[in-house]
Amino acid sequence: MTTSPMIAFYDGHQIPQLGYGVWQVENDVTEDVVGQALAAGYRHIDTAHIYGNESGVGAALRASGLDRDDVFITSKLWNDDHGYDATLKAFDATMENLGLDVLDLFLIHFPVPSKTLRVETWKAFIELHKQGRIRSIGVSNFRVEDLEELEAATGIIPVINQIELHPYFGQQQLREYHASKAIVTESWSPLGQGGGELTDPVIADIATAHGATPAQVIIAWHLALGLVVIPKSETPERIVANFESLDLRLSATEIAAISALDKGESGRQGANPNTFS
Ligand SMILES: NC(=O)c1ccc[n+]([C@@H]2O[C@H](COP(=O)([O-])OP(=O)(O)OC[C@H]3O[C@@H](n4cnc5c(N)ncnc54)[C@H](OP(=O)(O)O)[C@@H]3O)[C@@H](O)[C@H]2O)c1
Repeated sequence: MTTSPMIAFYDGHQIPQLGYGVWQVENDVTEDVVGQALAAGYRHIDTAHIYGNESGVGAALRASGLDRDDVFITSKLWNDDHGYDATLKAFDATMENLGLDVLDLFLIHFPVPSKTLRVETWKAFIELHKQGRIRSIGVSNFRVEDLEELEAATGIIPVINQIELHPYFGQQQLREYHASKAIVTESWSPLGQGGGELTDPVIADIATAHGATPAQVIIAWHLALGLVVIPKSETPERIVANFESLDLRLSATEIAAISALDKGESGRQGANPNTFS
């Protein structure tokens, strides 16, 4: 069976580059679709407390019969739980939902600029990491100023920043900053939430040339750029086909043509971290 390449974190751990996201998957179907994803070969599941489906992810993991250490699980701390003590409490709830003793990766879901609790929250993450309850600690939707704030206050840099990133919203500047700090970039909504990119003529032509689907071309583009990528699908054939993107190799010209589709800020589809609370 095809397996995902691994991307190394500076802390010594590694993450499967292609994972499976479960935002907007109802908890009562999560065990089933995550089970399908594990059977298709995914070994990395991306959930969050706010998705309400951590228990379904944990149930799928147990039902799969796979070794715990063979599957990488990410969850995220929600915006209401910023603060040192609140983080410790929320982490316990996440672990109870998942039914796990150790989490592979925990992320601060959003920076929430209207609050000023990012550093206290990060200190709780550092403590949980020291205790061995989280293998790697990171963030999501953080801007350069938020990353700089954590580093200045604690000297500990997140291993990863999970950000909105797809062909129409390429995030070149933030990716360059991450690279300068050895922070891994992870793409959320990598397919643009099933929107315009899937029918874009540039992507359609590349898909035709390879006998691939547009989604496979987009996922292969993320992989070629070295990004961690977590497409979501509840459709059995798409769960399998998206994983098979690992077999698709794009040329440098094709990668450049997809990167050139970037629309800058107008390509953004999801919550803007500048204002989201
Ligand atoms: N950190 C954050 O703030 C944040 C925010 C958003 C998302 N995320 C993470 O990123 C993951 C992925 O992002 P996302 O769920 O927003 O969107 P996405 O993966 O870009 O797109 C998912 C949509 O595309 C459709 N789709 C999937 N595969 C397809 C294919 N092969 N052909 C055509 N359509 C396809 C899905 O439909 P079906 O399901 O009907 O197949 C669904 O409607 C999430 O699940 C979550 O884990 C994180």
